[in-house]
Amino acid sequence: MLITVYLHRTHKWNSVVNQVVFVTGSAVGIGREVATSWAKESATIVALDIDTAENKMTHSQVESAGGTCHSYTCDISDREAVRAVFDDLKGKIDHIDLLVNNAAVYGDTKLTSSDWDTQTRAFDNAMGSCAMGAFYCTAAAVPLLEKSGTSNIINILTDHVRPGFYLTGGPATGYDCAKFALWRLTESWAEELKEMGIRVNGLCFGATDTPMLREFAPQMIENGMKVEDLDLAIRHVINQGPGGDTGASYDFGMGPTPRATSLEQIDAIRK
Ligand SMILES: NC(=O)c1ccc[n+]([C@@H]2O[C@H](COP(=O)([O-])OP(=O)(O)OC[C@H]3O[C@@H](n4cnc5c(N)ncnc54)[C@H](O)[C@@H]3O)[C@@H](O)[C@H]2O)c1
Repeated sequence: MLITVYLHRTHKWNSVVNQVVFVTGSAVGIGREVATSWAKESATIVALDIDTAENKMTHSQVESAGGTCHSYTCDISDREAVRAVFDDLKGKIDHIDLLVNNAAVYGDTKLTSSDWDTQTRAFDNAMGSCAMGAFYCTAAAVPLLEKSGTSNIINILTDHVRPGFYLTGGPATGYDCAKFALWRLTESWAEELKEMGIRVNGLCFGATDTPMLREFAPQMIENGMKVEDLDLAIRHVINQGPGGDTGASYDFGMGPTPRATSLEQIDAIRK
């Protein structure tokens, strides 16, 4: 562990080996990209998703890319399921360098579009997947993040939390509500965890080509970002080093921003 700490302090993240990356929502989209990207640097990836079949594919891609993968079918809104993952990880990993709270569901949580059972369940699911699940994973991960010496939590937010950006109204009020909660937790956790050497930051952005976007707003794919752009944004936050920001939420690729501009905005995170 001392070696890991030393390396963190003397090298940029993307030249360091022996890193442990924990990512939720790893089966597709941004989560899969994060998992496979760090795997190319021989990282150990802990990959949690509710979608067993696609997460198996991520597992294979991580191992093909040169990483080690501990993949789990886990509904992160179920606190006992999250606990079971961390119990199983004992003896497999002894620290975590990066936790990416990425899993989310985007669905109809209107008050009025269906019956009480359906809508309350959908709202529970949105809050559970996007906010409560992040809380459970983070609470369980803190002792392992602290052991890293200099670790990072990245909370994946959305431009919806910025005034004037896409008020979803009907389709995804639960998603938006959960993302506001996670945004606030970003600031609160940053304060709480600062003394442990754990930085906590969030990413607020818009259209990115993933299964979620393809389902809900395919017209935005053409000008939107690619999943590798998000991975780059995460790397820029981490590469600020131990003295870098904590409690920040970075805006880029908001609304209908063309991809070239989004990339310039991502580059500005470097410092
Ligand atoms: N794609 C975009 O345009 C966009 C824009 C802004 C923010 N985001 C955010 O980026 C993140 C990744 O989104 P994406 O577009 O890759 O989404 P996606 O729907 O393509 O992937 C999300 C993954 O999370 C998993 N998941 C959902 N609920 C879960 C649960 N309870 N437990 C475990 N896994 C669960 C899904 O199975 C899926 O594999 C999300 O937080 C999303 O809110 C995406």
